[in-house]
Amino acid sequence: MAMESPFKADILKGKVALLTGGGSGIGYEISYQLGRHGASIAIMGRRSQVLQAAVDSLQSHGIPAIGLEGDVRKRKDAIRVLESTIKHFGRLDILVNSAAGNFLIAAEDLSPNGFRTVIDIDSVGTFTMCHEALKYLKKGGPGKDISNGGTIINISATLHYTATWYQIHVSAAKAAVDSITRSLALEWGTDYNSRVNGIAPGPIEDTAGASKLGPEEMMSSRQHMPLFKLGEKWDIAMAALYLASDAGKYVNGTTLVVDGGEWLSKLRHLPKEAVKQLSRSVERRSRAAPVGVPKSKL
Ligand code: COA
Repeated sequence: MAMESPFKADILKGKVALLTGGGSGIGYEISYQLGRHGASIAIMGRRSQVLQAAVDSLQSHGIPAIGLEGDVRKRKDAIRVLESTIKHFGRLDILVNSAAGNFLIAAEDLSPNGFRTVIDIDSVGTFTMCHEALKYLKKGGPGKDISNGGTIINISATLHYTATWYQIHVSAAKAAVDSITRSLALEWGTDYNSRVNGIAPGPIEDTAGASKLGPEEMMSSRQHMPLFKLGEKWDIAMAALYLASDAGKYVNGTTLVVDGGEWLSKLRHLPKEAVKQLSRSVERRSRAAPVGVPKSKL
């Protein structure tokens, strides 16, 4: 259930945000929350009907919003969408790269073109948008208040922190996204006072990602989730607000994991009490017969 925002309603007053993949799922929720906190919103996506529905919904909440059709894989689309955003709203302060592609598939069944498609959307698409947006985002300069520079948020994942079954393509793509985040944070933080960060969502309910990667058939046990529940789109949007607003003014080059600790976990093989008993008997055994100590020293 969505909660009230803990942030003041005007923290993004006067700002303009462009979100790729902003018409649905996590991208839409970030659009909505940035808008609720004062930003004007441009959303970019491939499907005109989805865009229109999202714009209607944002506008019904009093949020100034436009939808711009485009594919992040096409540089000319990126350029056109950015120009249209500037034409309409006059400036750009926040770029959120949320467009992504995904499907479950074993590595041996994935064609190189399928691999390339996801890299093209997630990694190359993110770089293309950042690259074309820079001239609008760079307003600060060395020595100026860091909060003056425009900021970028790249939506990533935690799949590649270990290795994730049937996600070789997305793991590789998001590893590249995280690397792009750090490199741009370094170069553009230094040169233009622009902060570049990421968010790595865990399993978030009611999203394409959750239904594609964690279909019901695979989600029978939530025991291995430290907080025993799926996240909400709201959780990701609050992280985006933190990073986009002055609350995050000294945060640069990080990818904030918002997953309830899910990526840390492995399936629990034994209940806690059983581990305690087992551990005690192992201690007793090793005191009685220490391993690796010559018998003559006992
Ligand atoms: N399983 C295996 N391969 C797949 C696939 C699937 N489910 N979906 C696409 N591919 C492969 C295709 O076979 C093709 O490779 P080939 O030419 O060697 O056969 C390649 O990927 C490109 O497919 P295409 O359908 O042309 O790509 P697209 O641009 O229309 O779609 C996707 C891109 C595949 C990522 C699509 O799932 C998509 O658009 N998703 C956007 C939404 C989304 O995934 N959101 C989740 C975010 S977590």
